[in-house]
Order: sequence, then structure tokens, then C-alpha cells
Amino acid sequence: MPRIVAANQDSITEAAALIAGGELAVLPTETVYGLGANALDGKAVAKIFAAKNRPSFNPLISHVADTHDAAKYVLMDDRARQIADAFWPGPLTLILPKRADSGMNDLVSAGLPTLAIRVPSHKIMQAVIKQAGVPIAAPSANASGEPSATTPKHAAESLGENVPFILAAGMCDVGLESTVLDLSGEDAVILRPGAITAEDLKPYLGTVKIDTGAHEKAEDIKSPGQLLKHYAPAIPVRLNAVDVEEGEALLAFGSTKFMAIKSGGNVSNLPDDALKNLSEDGDLIEAAANLFMMLRDLDSPNHKAIAVMNIPNIGLGVAINDRLHRAANAPP
Ligand code: TXA
Ligand code: MG
Repeated sequence: MPRIVAANQDSITEAAALIAGGELAVLPTETVYGLGANALDGKAVAKIFAAKNRPSFNPLISHVADTHDAAKYVLMDDRARQIADAFWPGPLTLILPKRADSGMNDLVSAGLPTLAIRVPSHKIMQAVIKQAGVPIAAPSANASGEPSATTPKHAAESLGENVPFILAAGMCDVGLESTVLDLSGEDAVILRPGAITAEDLKPYLGTVKIDTGAHEKAEDIKSPGQLLKHYAPAIPVRLNAVDVEEGEALLAFGSTKFMAIKSGGNVSNLPDDALKNLSEDGDLIEAAANLFMMLRDLDSPNHKAIAVMNIPNIGLGVAINDRLHRAANAPP
């Protein structure tokens, strides 16, 4: 079992140090317990998916101390600032355009140009964020497919040895995940209902649509009650490549010693901008951290397609393959 430690000055400092050092910690918020990691550190974020046993990469919510900090990572127009003034800190997540200079790892937003951000009101969470000094990516602290953890015990039972440290502060007040409000487009759209309701938001926004994806095609939806776009490169993606065709770029994994270019020679002869390796050591955590960034790097009209080497379908490899299949528009 993980260490469950009651929240006090020392344990808050310990949790903040774990986060700042690239490790995971379960943290209390007013909605549900969160499985936190430094959102600027791709490997740390990848550990979240490994610990939750998530078969796919859903974009995560980044938690920051206040609106001023939020504005370092997302573009906040007047409408967003008004909503932030009214409802932050609190159980409301805003989807906003990600700043080009955000420094956020691409895995946090699953390659999307938008970012989910929230200022939690929980005093302990606030203290951890401030001491860690980084934005904290945190999905609910439960294994994939299980209900969100609202007590330290539930988080411990659900995540087990996958998480080293749980900062305990009793039961969560709200007990339901935050409302997700998409303000990245012209319409204000609730993507996930929560404690802040459409009625609460209407005085500030006029009309508020609710679109939980119920009418979407089943294969477009990650889980019930959530509408999600997926990142896909503009050029074709070819999976399980065992060689590279003329004009293709290569997204490698592990050793490329035996990868040849069809027209002759080894792929090490490819120009730098046509060859990226997710992890030369075959490390799935490193690969997950690099995935969206490298796909984006290779997504250039200079290449005919992106050939992707086989990724073992174990552990985080399942989530990586899920995303690659979506990018390739091929059923898994
Ligand atoms: O209350 C909460 O929000 C909790 C606590 C820990 O803060 N966190 C939470 O995180 O519920 P998670 O990862 O379980 O849920 C994130 C939600 C998902 O519905 C996801 O699809 C949506 O936010 N989301 C994240 N980024 C998004 C984006 N760029 N566009 C659309 N939806 C996004
Ligand atoms: Mg969740």
C-alpha cells in the first residue's frame, strides 16, 4: 500500500517536493482526490497514465494557484477573466487556447491546442501548488474505469503500489469532478456537468450550451459524458513499419539498427527533421512523454507520411498505441 499521511506542514512540504522532483502524489481537492504530477515534466505526466492504467491518453486538467498563474499557460480573454473572477478558486475547469510559450508538456493536453485549467479552492491543494512552484496536472486519483476517489482510502485501494504517497485530508466536500466549461470557441459549452451549473454560468455568458457528446459517434467519445477532439497529424500515419519508404519520416522506438530505407541504406541516413526516436532505450514512459511533440515535429508537408515502428502493447504501450491508431485513423 502507498504511504497515507495526514496533511500538515511537513507532509505538505513532502508532497510538494515529490511533485517538483518529477514524482507522483495523491492530493486532496474540493471535488475529488487528484493524482498529481508536474505538468511541465513529460516523464512525470506519463507516470500518471502508467499509474492509472489508462488505456488511452485523455487530456488532463492543470491546477494552478490563481488566475495570474493560469494566464501563464492559457490565453484569457475578457470572457474567461470574468468567469475566473466569479468562480475561481472553485470546482470549475476552463478549456482555453494554450499559449505557445506555455512550457506545458504536450501529453497534458494530449496534443490538443487547448488546455484544461483550474484553480482549486482546497487549502491543502493550494499550499502544495504554491510550494511545488509548478502547475500540477491531476486526473482523479483512481485506476482507469473506477469511480473517482473521494477519500484517501479509496485512492489507496484503487491505485495501490502504483502511487508512493497520499496526502490525506478527509472526504472531499464536493465529491464530484469539476464542471468542464469550454471557452476556447465562440460558444460557451459545458463538456462535463459539475457543481457549477449552466444556471450559475448564464448570468455571465448569456447562453451556455451543454454538450456531453451524447449525440456523437461512439468511436469519437473517450468515455460517457465527455466530448473530445483528438489530435491527428495532417499527413498520413503508417503503423508497425518495418522499413521506411521514399519520402517518409520515421517515428522510431528503441534501436533502429535493423531499420532500412527501402531505396537503400539505414534510417540513420535520414535527415534530422525526418527521424525522431520516442525512446532509444525502449522506455515506454519516455516514449509517452515524447509522443505528441514528436508527431507534431514530423507532421510537415515535406514528408509523404509518418512511418511508426511497432510499440509493444504492454503497460503504457497500450495508451501509446491507442493514440497512434487514432492518429493513423486505423482501428486498434
Ligand atoms: O474535479 C476535477 O476536475 C478533478 C480534480 C482532481 O481536479 N480532476 C479530474 O480530471 O476530474 P480528469 O482527468 O479525470 O478529467 C479531465 C476532464 C476530462 O473530461 C477531459 O476530457 C477534459 O477534462 N479535458 C481536459 N483537457 C481538455 C481539452 N483540452 N479539451 C476538452 N476537454 C478536456
Ligand atoms: Mg477521472
